[in-house]
Amino acid sequence: MSDLKGRTALVTGAAGGIGAAVVKALRARGARVAAADRDTGGVEAEAHLDGDLLDPAYADGLPAAAAKALGRLDIVVNNAGVITRGPVDETSDADWDLSVGVNVQAPFRICRAAIPLMAGQGGGAIVNVASCWGLRPGPGHAVYCMTKSAIASLTQCMGMDHAHQGIRINAVAPNEVNTPMLRTGFLKRGFDPDTAVAELGRTVPLGRIAEPEDIADVILFLASDAARYICGAVVEVNGGKPVK
Ligand SMILES: NC(=O)c1ccc[n+]([C@@H]2O[C@H](COP(=O)([O-])OP(=O)(O)OC[C@H]3O[C@@H](n4cnc5c(N)ncnc54)[C@H](O)[C@@H]3O)[C@@H](O)[C@H]2O)c1
Repeated sequence: MSDLKGRTALVTGAAGGIGAAVVKALRARGARVAAADRDTGGVEAEAHLDGDLLDPAYADGLPAAAAKALGRLDIVVNNAGVITRGPVDETSDADWDLSVGVNVQAPFRICRAAIPLMAGQGGGAIVNVASCWGLRPGPGHAVYCMTKSAIASLTQCMGMDHAHQGIRINAVAPNEVNTPMLRTGFLKRGFDPDTAVAELGRTVPLGRIAEPEDIADVILFLASDAARYICGAVVEVNGGKPVK
């Protein structure tokens, strides 16, 4: 497939599980990609924009840097994210700053900078990565859930506000995905990741948790012309397993 030939894309969290799959899928469909992460050395892409999303100047400047490197900017995927665990009374100021900084403030800054750029070139598509846990509460991850709820809400608002500029802004809301984020969480809690992933898979009606490619395909759909009439949607990608 080369339906994204000539398009350019900025992907944050490009070195992580879902981000790497998105970069690969975009390039396989003909897009040129600017990969953003703390270290994109191992990521094959047309441009590498390394930095820390907690640095406001870096986040503010990413869309322009991607447009400069690639000639224009058609697609932004705000995928980078962090998970902090625990109820509110076990959440430190540092956890709060990290979670809100990476999961909410950085995508806000990137959208705010990308929108006028895209409007000036006739439109574009932004896909944010929320979570099922942003749509309904999950246990023991209060601040993470709140940040994912915030990005889902911001997406719905921006989807309405910027459709008239030809900019479609949507989000995906995955349930569990087999990525370093999930696997390191198991390790930290003393579980073998392979066993834990297999066990978790049995709780999903489709019989397995998601692989990064399952989420990347939906992100690409939302970024592509096949989704040309979708604005402000938060698409749940959960194998039939909602958060209860
Ligand atoms: N894995 C899951 O089960 C799951 C479920 C629902 C939603 N999500 C969301 O999917 C997205 C991708 O997660 P993943 O599972 O691929 O995680 P991951 O940990 O594999 O990748 C996240 C990437 O974000 C980057 N990142 C984090 N903080 C950064 C910072 N300050 N500056 C620059 N880059 C930074 C990391 O370096 C990493 O490469 C996240 O937004 C996450 O919340 C994941």
